[in-house]
Amino acid sequence: MRLVVSSPRPPFSAVRLPASAGATAALARLLTLGLLLILPAGCGQPQRAPLDLTLYFTCDTRGRLVPCGCFTGQFGGLTRLKTVLDAEQPGDALRLDVGDAIGGKEDYHVIEYDYLRRAYADMQFDALNLGHREAELPAATLRGLKTNSPVPLLSANLLDAVTGAPIFDPFRIFRRGAWRIAVVGVMDPRGWGDNLGAGLAVEKMESTLSRLLPEIRKQADLIVLLAFTDEATLTKLAQEFYELDVILGGKVSQPAQKLEKENRSLISFVTNESRALGRLRLRLAPGAPVTSLDHEIRLLHDRIPEDPSVQALAAAYRQQIRATRLAVDSPERLQADRVPGVRVAATFVGSEACAECHRTATALWKKSGHAHAFRTLVEKKADADPKCIGCHTVGFGSPSGYQRDFAGRQLTDVGCESCHGPGSLHVKQHRGDLSVSFKFRPLGAGDCQKCHYGEFSRPFDWDQFWPPIRHGKEPPPTAQAPASPP
Ligand code: HEC
Ligand code: HEC
Ligand code: HEC
Ligand code: HEC
Repeated sequence: MRLVVSSPRPPFSAVRLPASAGATAALARLLTLGLLLILPAGCGQPQRAPLDLTLYFTCDTRGRLVPCGCFTGQFGGLTRLKTVLDAEQPGDALRLDVGDAIGGKEDYHVIEYDYLRRAYADMQFDALNLGHREAELPAATLRGLKTNSPVPLLSANLLDAVTGAPIFDPFRIFRRGAWRIAVVGVMDPRGWGDNLGAGLAVEKMESTLSRLLPEIRKQADLIVLLAFTDEATLTKLAQEFYELDVILGGKVSQPAQKLEKENRSLISFVTNESRALGRLRLRLAPGAPVTSLDHEIRLLHDRIPEDPSVQALAAAYRQQIRATRLAVDSPERLQADRVPGVRVAATFVGSEACAECHRTATALWKKSGHAHAFRTLVEKKADADPKCIGCHTVGFGSPSGYQRDFAGRQLTDVGCESCHGPGSLHVKQHRGDLSVSFKFRPLGAGDCQKCHYGEFSRPFDWDQFWPPIRHGKEPPPTAQAPASPP
């Protein structure tokens, strides 16, 4: 008769056994506590060996196969993640993503998600949990993603709204050595408004876990929860569910400063748009609680070389997107020109139309980086990628703005109207066809920061950024001086 401890540790801290306790004494105590599953057959097997297990985890990649390259010194990208993971020691490991790997819910994001998952597969990821972004896709799209996914997708509480059944595997059990490790995925239903995809429902995490965990505990020696939720809720889950050995998050503002211990769980979390990798090394030993050997959050800084195979995936994505007709290519889908403070009646006419009356401003603009922003994308072969075009052209996404069919011919670059707004009315009125009633609104730093923010720009500072592109009213025709500042 073989005795198998149902859990690497008993479920109440009062009876937790010291790791050093002799196996016989430990078994005797466990037996009196009735905590053993007694299984028939398989006589005389030795107790399983301890295991050192490394968990690698990411979250919040949001489509970053490669960093966009908007300024030098950018961190992150799966290109760098691969380089770092490739250099890790081989050994027993699990590689997991906690959610929000996809960039968004547009058709091109879904195409890109194929390449992202290929990259995760190449990096030997074992499972990807679903985050809020993935759950913004309609149920039908998600079902399509499930078939043939190169990496298993997990979610225990994302349900089909009609049948109430989970769309993805609620959990998976992985074997490492003689150990069975369950990885369970959940997402917090709170905090993303009405963005849930059509045909989906999300159950409260607590309800799902109460139902599932006792069942999973019977099948696994270690339970790792991937929870797409905030710091406070990660702690609450640990308090509520003693079955959880490790909890990895999440929807957090900062990567974990240190490994936390709450109730019976070790807790860590990462975020930061693909710039951070979590690594937690555990010791699993029979009859002892799981212990942490070390814990680290690694920043994927700009000196880490980018992996060429992931770069090739990014290039293949851009190639495919160039050849694919997308929803943004259908003008009927686009909403009316929406630039705050500008009449809807105005349309984009292009910077060339401004040159005849604003010579000085035009000459200054032509010398600025804004005037070759599209060439920059062409050089990167990113000129058909909707994720890039928006800030490197005029009015992309509105009916009279840049369209991919223009293939660089018109409304390219950061033009006059990228900042001032559509100019058709202004041009018409000043050409004398109409009396001048329309006036462009005054601009300020906030108008620059719709493009100059986050990873897309060096930190924006008006006093540093305005002088290189300073321009204003035309000097009177008699004046000899160049354009005066506004
Ligand atoms: C949110 C707006 C925005 C998006 C989206 C965007 N860019 Fe940029 N990009 C900028 C801004 C702003 C700069 C200038 C940054 C600076 O000067 O610090 C820039 C600069 C660049 C540069 C550097 C130009 C130089 O001369 O050094 C490259 C290359 C670039 N972007 C490529 C891309 C690619 C590729 C994408 C799509 C993956 C993209 N950009 C998406 C706003 C954007
Ligand atoms: C037919 C001549 C003409 C054309 C073409 C023209 N403008 Fe003007 N614009 C003027 C005049 C005249 C003024 C008023 C005097 C001034 O501020 O220099 C003006 C003023 C402006 C102002 C100050 C705010 C306002 O509404 O008075 C901005 C900004 C401006 N123009 C931008 C543009 C842009 C952008 C374009 C191209 C889309 C453009 N202009 C095309 C003649 C023109
Ligand atoms: C529509 C998006 C967008 C807006 C709005 C925008 N920029 Fe930019 N900016 C860019 C892009 C893209 C680049 C990089 C161009 C390149 O080199 O390819 C850039 C580059 C720059 C540069 C570096 C290049 C140079 O010529 O020195 C400065 C400075 C700059 N922007 C200042 C500003 C200021 C000031 C504002 C607001 C008044 C502003 N930008 C608004 C997209 C934008
Ligand atoms: C990167 C953003 C940006 C671009 C591109 C840009 N402008 Fe401006 N423009 C500004 C800002 C900011 C001001 C100063 C604040 C204001 O007056 O609104 C300004 C001021 C002006 C003024 C004087 C406004 C006034 O009320 O006195 C005119 C005219 C003008 N721009 C025309 C142009 C023309 C023509 C082009 C293209 C050749 C152009 N701008 C490109 C941001 C931009």
